[in-house]
Amino acid sequence: MRDIEQTSEQEAHIIGSDSPDETAERGRVLGGELRPGDVLALVGPLGAGKTQFVRGLALGAGSMSRVTSPTFKLVNEYVGRVRLYHIDAYRLDGPLDLVALGCDEFFDSDDGAAVVEWADRVEAALPDERLEIRFDIVGPEARRLEFIPRGKRFRELAERIT
Ligand SMILES: Nc1ncnc2c1ncn2[C@@H]1O[C@H](COP(=O)(O)OP(=O)(O)OP(=O)(O)O)[C@@H](O)[C@H]1O
Ligand SMILES: [Mg+2]
Repeated sequence: MRDIEQTSEQEAHIIGSDSPDETAERGRVLGGELRPGDVLALVGPLGAGKTQFVRGLALGAGSMSRVTSPTFKLVNEYVGRVRLYHIDAYRLDGPLDLVALGCDEFFDSDDGAAVVEWADRVEAALPDERLEIRFDIVGPEARRLEFIPRGKRFRELAERIT
């Protein structure tokens, strides 16, 4: 726990993206580093580029699947070098909905990592150790991505990929 509480603002890494491709490329690089059990929490307004980022993420994780918003099923699964569970919390009413969806299976998986869009809607159900990525719209094609690591694994990872 100490480890997590020590996460400070200095450990946040901020990068800019000037195109959808650039955002996907950022995701691809992170996807190449993913390990089973990793959890990524994406936060940001509609159209900020969260799903675009997941497109690259799935590619980097070794999946050729088409990435779309998991609107109806709420969870998509892409099979690659590591499995990627893609959860969209936009339509969930809160953390309990995520628990009911069986989130332990996604967060404690032996062979899969999880990425959650609209993670702020279900924060209480997320593991303490996670990599938060905050998206901001700063222009028609300009986005600001802030990586906020929670826990040692993600501090090192955020350092490496930014
Ligand atoms: N730099 C950029 N990075 C990502 N997307 C961009 C960028 N510039 C423009 N866009 C456009 O913004 C939109 C981002 O859509 P996307 O579905 O990824 O957003 P989202 O954050 O997942 O939204 P939602 O909350 O609705 O799921 C796309 O239409 C994309 O083409
Ligand atoms: Mg989306």
